[in-house]
Amino acid sequence: MDTIQLNNKATMPLLGLGVFQIPDQELCEQTVSHALNTGYQMIDTAASYGNEKAVGNAIKHSGVAREEIFISSKVWIQDAGYEQTMKSFEKTLQNLQTDYLDLYLIHMPYGDYHGSWRAMEELHRSEKVKAIGVCNFLEDRLVDLVLSHDIMPAVNQMEMHPFYQQKELRAVMQKYDIKMMAWAPFAEGSNGIFTNQALSEIGEKYGKSPAQVILRWLRQNHVITIPKSVRLERMQENFNVDDFELSKEDISQIEKMDQDESLILDIRSLDEVYRLHDIQFEQ
Ligand SMILES: NC(=O)c1ccc[n+]([C@@H]2O[C@H](COP(=O)([O-])OP(=O)(O)OC[C@H]3O[C@@H](n4cnc5c(N)ncnc54)[C@H](OP(=O)(O)O)[C@@H]3O)[C@@H](O)[C@H]2O)c1
Repeated sequence: MDTIQLNNKATMPLLGLGVFQIPDQELCEQTVSHALNTGYQMIDTAASYGNEKAVGNAIKHSGVAREEIFISSKVWIQDAGYEQTMKSFEKTLQNLQTDYLDLYLIHMPYGDYHGSWRAMEELHRSEKVKAIGVCNFLEDRLVDLVLSHDIMPAVNQMEMHPFYQQKELRAVMQKYDIKMMAWAPFAEGSNGIFTNQALSEIGEKYGKSPAQVILRWLRQNHVITIPKSVRLERMQENFNVDDFELSKEDISQIEKMDQDESLILDIRSLDEVYRLHDIQFEQ
């Protein structure tokens, strides 16, 4: 499994399985088991996904040693702030049945995320978390966070796919050596991405699917990614992207697909601020 070194010298796999939108506990447990059997070494969950326990069960029953699996989870807006983040973190550890996390992320740039960051810095210093980072922080909020605290985020987990390539944000992140972790690498299937002509034509040259072309393009850009699938054959397909290399021409073809705007989560829209603040759950 290809890995990448973070700005705090920890390493993480470049490919993992995301488990967003798998609320069914049995299905989630089975999905994570299949992923671990396939060879995935990273699982990305979140308090708000409601499936941390299922992820923990699958890991526990897998027979794979804890140190062999990179677990990432996130604190939700309802738990923003120092105290609440500390409490939510403890619940996350309990749910996942582990005593440390490999990566802990602020899920949204809303609420008292500066308080959350102070909690995360402390968790990192006490070695309960190997790396800390954020999600959905565009340039302004990301740099504000960097300038306000001691520890730099190691990653920023962002919507990134061929239609939204985050070129400007990535340039800012590069300046601080913050690694890009792409969520929704397939744009959640929107815009006909799995039958896109340009991606299909590139894939045909190598006997690969559009999904594999996208994951290879991310890999060659050193972008960490966490495609989600509940289907074993797709998980295997998404895992098998090590045996071909996209040419410069292929890459520049994919770069031309960029529409430079979100298809899924426009983080600065007022509707999203209201919608996301409304999401509350029992962890
Ligand atoms: N931090 C954040 O705010 C945030 C937001 C969204 C997501 N995420 C993380 O990123 C992960 C991935 O993003 P996502 O789940 O939103 O979307 P995604 O990975 O872009 O797309 C998932 C969709 O693609 C399908 N799929 C997967 N592999 C396929 C293949 N090889 N061929 C055809 N269809 C395929 C899946 O269906 P099946 O399952 O039926 O195969 C599912 O409908 C999440 O699970 C989560 O961990 C983070």
